[in-house]
Amino acid sequence: MGIQVQSLSKRYGRTWAVRDLSFEVQPGRVTGFLGPNGAGKSTTMRSIVGLDRPTTGAALIDGAPYARLRAPLREVGTLLDARAAHRSRRAVDHLRTVAATHGFPAKRVDEVIGLTGLESAARVKAGKFSLGMGQRLGIAVALLGDPHTLILDEPVNGLDPEGVTWIRGLLSALAAEGRTVFLSSHLLSELALVVDHVVVIGRGRLIADAPLMTLTSDAGRTLEEAYIALTRDAVEYRAGDADGARS
Ligand SMILES: Nc1ncnc2c1ncn2[C@@H]1O[C@H](COP(=O)(O)OP(=O)(O)OP(=O)(O)O)[C@@H](O)[C@H]1O
Ligand SMILES: [Mg+2]
Repeated sequence: MGIQVQSLSKRYGRTWAVRDLSFEVQPGRVTGFLGPNGAGKSTTMRSIVGLDRPTTGAALIDGAPYARLRAPLREVGTLLDARAAHRSRRAVDHLRTVAATHGFPAKRVDEVIGLTGLESAARVKAGKFSLGMGQRLGIAVALLGDPHTLILDEPVNGLDPEGVTWIRGLLSALAAEGRTVFLSSHLLSELALVVDHVVVIGRGRLIADAPLMTLTSDAGRTLEEAYIALTRDAVEYRAGDADGARS
């Protein structure tokens, strides 16, 4: 059960975005996926759900590759591009279309609108959504099929403080129900309040795969401090590193 990433490598042209990466994401807890810009987090997540084809290696969700899942949206909910909804379509219509396409009951649309706090925005066109509303709509789509696994790429981005508190509660509740919850984020202090386990990558390779406690309180440091120490040598795009900035 859970997600298994097995010796995954992905090359784009001459760039290795992910290099021989292996780790497991266990059900029943929230796992944070961390790493500097360009580390390969999104590539890994897209590879897990078959949006990217690994150069070598594989990924399994509850024991099967995503492509073999019989009802993917019932098994895996994803947020990989928060702007996926058609701009001229109202949020509620977008959800109804996805629900109808996948045979989910119409009442599930109302349920996910409630779960994501989109009641007042449901009749607004997606193109008029703020970043945070778009995130909530993306999460609503991910939840439509009541999936056992959630793969969310930077879901906290753009949420206001109330939204951040809301999503922490949502993710904890989903994990407490025994689901697999895997999310990437750069918001480390927010993340530290919700994750049980942390996977850190840098330059496409695994740097750490450990319980939050082992990285933080046991070592007497915050998640930010742990992260900076772990990724010091793996940062590809450091502020001020550009040639122009140095002169
Ligand atoms: N479609 C693509 N074509 C070519 N190169 C790509 C493509 N997608 C990603 N890359 C490259 O792969 C590497 C990993 O990118 P990726 O988006 O997976 O990183 P990330 O960890 O998600 O970064 P961020 O924190 O900025 O979201 C980068 O060097 C990036 O430029
Ligand atoms: Mg990314």
